[in-house]
Amino acid sequence: MSSSLFPTTTTALTSKPTIKFINTPFIPQRAINTRTNRTHGFRVSCNVAPDDDHNHNKPILPNIDRRNLLLGLGGLYTTANLTSLPPAALADPITTPDITSICKEADSGIKDLEKAVRTRKCCPPNIKKTIKPFVFPNEKTVRMRWRAHNGSKEQVEKYKKAIQAMRDLPDDHPHSFIQQAKIHCAYCNGGYTQVDSGFPDIDIQIHNSWLFFPYHRWYLYFYERILGKLINDPTFALPYWNWDNPAGMTIPDIFLEEKEKSKSNPLFDIYRDARHLPPKLVDLDFGGGERDTTNEIQIACNLSTVYRDLVRNGADTKSFFGGEYVAGDAPVANGDKSVGSVEAGCHIAVHRWVGDSTQANFEDMGNLYSSGYDPLFYAHHSNVDRMWKLWKDLGIPGHTEPTDPDWLNASYVFYDENQDLVRVYNKDCIKMDALKYNYYEESKSVFPWRKSRPAKRSKNSQATSNSTEDVKTTEQLKFPVTLDGVLKVRVKRSAVNRTDEEKAKANEILLINGIKFDGEKYVKFDVFVNDKLKEGEVPTPCDPEYAGGFAQIPHTGMKKMLMSSAARFGLAELLEDTNTEGEEYAVVTLVPRIGCEDLTISDIKIELVPI
Ligand code: C2O
Repeated sequence: MSSSLFPTTTTALTSKPTIKFINTPFIPQRAINTRTNRTHGFRVSCNVAPDDDHNHNKPILPNIDRRNLLLGLGGLYTTANLTSLPPAALADPITTPDITSICKEADSGIKDLEKAVRTRKCCPPNIKKTIKPFVFPNEKTVRMRWRAHNGSKEQVEKYKKAIQAMRDLPDDHPHSFIQQAKIHCAYCNGGYTQVDSGFPDIDIQIHNSWLFFPYHRWYLYFYERILGKLINDPTFALPYWNWDNPAGMTIPDIFLEEKEKSKSNPLFDIYRDARHLPPKLVDLDFGGGERDTTNEIQIACNLSTVYRDLVRNGADTKSFFGGEYVAGDAPVANGDKSVGSVEAGCHIAVHRWVGDSTQANFEDMGNLYSSGYDPLFYAHHSNVDRMWKLWKDLGIPGHTEPTDPDWLNASYVFYDENQDLVRVYNKDCIKMDALKYNYYEESKSVFPWRKSRPAKRSKNSQATSNSTEDVKTTEQLKFPVTLDGVLKVRVKRSAVNRTDEEKAKANEILLINGIKFDGEKYVKFDVFVNDKLKEGEVPTPCDPEYAGGFAQIPHTGMKKMLMSSAARFGLAELLEDTNTEGEEYAVVTLVPRIGCEDLTISDIKIELVPI
């Protein structure tokens, strides 16, 4: 178990918690993981909703009265209730509670609340089901997800028919288009708390950590099966928006408005940025501003960005998946909970690029509370999920899923295609073949981005004088620093000129830790390392000096608006390609792009991370 399990900011825990169990008349055998020395009180007097379907939008916590709690603290537990407990109660993974009885509305304001175009009442309907364990599908066929820009007539027709059927369901049906959209909002905007782990005051957040990939995989898994069921097709598969391929870099046509005004396309959504419709190419490094460039350069930069997210910055499990996030961790935590390379990279860029910039909250795709209302969201995430598979298939040492039990046993609750409530674990989504879906690839061996490592800088294009001595070192800088302007700092490396053998054993990673920002804002800053370009030349995202960006779109409704994250950037290739491998210090430049006026950073360092 890791030492960062218990951030002191919220819980001030000093010792490993003891685990006690209690019974309550309403929630039999619920485990209460009581932690010692907790500084915030247990919320013990919340109401349990009586049998009232309309109550599912109110905050509901288990009815644990103080007497029971005290009994619990006294150590009342038996082997009988121990065996029937959800396994998660014995450890510390994030455990989603029963989503139908314990859910609250996104509970704080969207910046422009009156202008929000979607509801924040995101709790799922309660149709009186009890949570079942997940069972792998036993079907023989594999659902082949297809390229959205190149679907067959049949694939496209089925897809439209299924989405239309979803839209035609009554709003309170667990499979309705709106309920499916709300799933994302509830998991992102504070719908659920960590009550099952003993932290009723701490929300669950499925972004910014190692939950990002598995959570969204499960979400799409059920979404796809529900659509298939609606049209009675067990082979139904979602499309993926192939933005990592030059042929797929515009919004796929199938999602656009019908040309004939009398027809309507169920895949169309009105809340998209009108400037970004085809033939405009997506900018996978979008930072709020329009890039004035040619298609050729945009394509090259996009491919480099994918390469950067998967290879250079996704060099190890943590860099790719994001940092650990376990019971007791709040969105505001001490320090180094990091966001994964794809999540903070291509993923966020596409969200914001698609979202309607004329809306106050950038609905739908530009804000996490509303993203699920755009059918394009699911095609985007299908490709994000595919990035996980491709990353693993690269077969590079270090490209493996987390093995920490706190990751493996983290769980979510969804309505499946039969309207049953099921609990699913990260560990069960690793094997795509068991989940019976896969991605169609045009060619198994050629991915355009695979060869898009940014070109090595020629020494001639670099300035010869190396006048960085006046740049402060991290020791001289006073942390935390506010990123209200460009920040340049020298960061000491722990080793230079490592041999290939040494490089194979550990990755050299630049860590930007303790990034604190307003969770209701769109923020982005870029990170450049050892930029030695001559006066007047500015490196671009296609250049080797560009380490990558850190971006977030609003998580509106977070109880505390302050969020904390960290970012990791792989340095090995960057240093080689900028001819700076032999230098003792790396000169790191952080360039704020948007929303960074009050963003602070608590630490910048370079570490060797064993593979
Ligand atoms: Cu849950 Cu793309 O976000």
